[in-house]
Amino acid sequence: TQTHSILVLPGDGIGPEVMAEAIKVLRAFENPECKFVLREELIGGCSIDATGKPVTDEVKQAALTSDAVLFAAVGGPKWDKARRGLDGPEGGLLQLRKAMDIYANLRPCSSHSPSSSITKEFSPFRHEVLFGPEKDATGLDGVDFVVVRENCGGAYFGKKVEDADYAMDEWGYSTAEVQRVTRVAAQVALRHTPTWPVISLDKANVLASSRLWRRVVEETMATEYPQLKLIHQLADSASLILATNPRALNGVILADNTFGDMISDQAGSIVGTLGVLPSASLNGLPGDKTLQTRPYGLYEPTHGSAPTIAGKNVANPVAMILCVALMFRYSLNMENEAQQVEDAVRRVLDKGLRTPDLGGNLGTKELGDAIVAELRL
Ligand code: NAD
Ligand code: IPM
Ligand code: MN
Repeated sequence: TQTHSILVLPGDGIGPEVMAEAIKVLRAFENPECKFVLREELIGGCSIDATGKPVTDEVKQAALTSDAVLFAAVGGPKWDKARRGLDGPEGGLLQLRKAMDIYANLRPCSSHSPSSSITKEFSPFRHEVLFGPEKDATGLDGVDFVVVRENCGGAYFGKKVEDADYAMDEWGYSTAEVQRVTRVAAQVALRHTPTWPVISLDKANVLASSRLWRRVVEETMATEYPQLKLIHQLADSASLILATNPRALNGVILADNTFGDMISDQAGSIVGTLGVLPSASLNGLPGDKTLQTRPYGLYEPTHGSAPTIAGKNVANPVAMILCVALMFRYSLNMENEAQQVEDAVRRVLDKGLRTPDLGGNLGTKELGDAIVAELRL
C-alpha cells in the first residue's frame, strides 16, 4: 500500500468550503493500494485568532515533512488591521512559501484546459481575439500559456520600512534566485509539445533588479537551453498584449514575484472567472537533477478568500479541485489520476453543471458531488 501524507490548510473565507470539495475528490481515489493520511491545520486569519500568528512553526514543520500541501485561501476584512507584512493573514502563506523554498509558482491558463468550455462562453474577450477567425477553432489555435512566477524573492521578501511618513519595500534579486526559476521555466517549455518559447517579463528599461533579471535569464538560457526560443517582453506591454492579443504570449511566461502575481490574476479575466485557475508552488520540477533537497509542493488556487461570497455554498470549487490534479501530477507521481480529475471537471463543466459565477445554479457542494460522480475510476 502506498500512503501519502497531505497537509490540508483550508484557511479563511471560502477556503474551507472549496477545500471540503477537493478532499471529497481526493478521497475518491483511495483504495487498498493507495491511502491518504490528511492532517488539517490552521493558516491565515483563523490561525491569528487561535495562536496570535498567521502560521505556527509546528505547521511549517508539518509542511516540510508531508508529501504535499493543499492550501485554499487566507485573509478577510476581519483581519485588515492585522495586515502587517509577514504578520497578517497573507503573511501565513508567504512565510510558508519561504519555509518550503517553493520558488517556482506554475499558473496554467489554456484554451484546452479542463475549463476551456467556460472560456468560450464567459470570457469578456471576443471569440476571434481568443481563438482566431475560424469559428470552431480550439486547442492550439487558442490561448495556451503557463505563468512561471518567482515565488520566494523580490519585493515580497526584501527589507521593509513602514514608518508614518515613509514606507519602502526592497525589490532585489540575486543571480542564483533568477537562475533557478529560469531553469524551471525552461523545463516546462521543453516538456510542452510543440516546444514552447520562454517569454520573460521585466522592466529592464527602469529597474536595476530587472536588468540583472534579464541578463541572468539570457545567460542561463543561452548556455543551458540554447534550443529554446527566448523573448524578453516589458511587463507593462505584456499586460496590454494579454488584453488585446493573448495568443501572442503563448508559451511559458517567466516573471518575477510582483509581475507574476499581476499577470496571473489577469489570466482570470481571459478565462472568465478566477474560480477555475489552480496553481502549483514547487522547488523544482519532478525529475529535476539540480534539485538538492527533497521536492516540495504546495497547491493553491490563484484566487483568494472571496469574503463577500463566503459561507453561502456558492464559491466555485473547481480551482481547488484542479489543485488536487496538479498535486497528483507534480508531487505524488500519479499522472493517470491527475488526468482522471481533469477529465471529470471537463465533462461536468461541458454539461453545463456550474456554480453562479458561471451563470449556473449548482452550489459548491453539489458541483463537488457532480465531479466525484463523474470520475471514472
Ligand atoms: P479574491 O480572489 O478573493 O476575489 C476576487 C473576485 O473573484 C471576487 O469577485 C470573488 O468573489 C471572485 N472569486 C474568487 N474566487 C472565487 C471562487 N472560487 N468562486 C467564485 N468566485 C470567486 O480577491 P480579493 O477580493 O482581492 O481578495 C480577498 C481576500 O483574499 C483579501 O484578503 C486578499 O488578501 C486575499 N487573497 C488571498 C489569496 C490567497 O490566499 N492565495 C489570494 C488572493 C487574495
Ligand atoms: C496570490 C495572492 C498572494 C500573493 C497573497 C495572498 C499573499 O495574491 O497567491 O496570488 O500576492 O502572492
Ligand atoms: Mn495574487
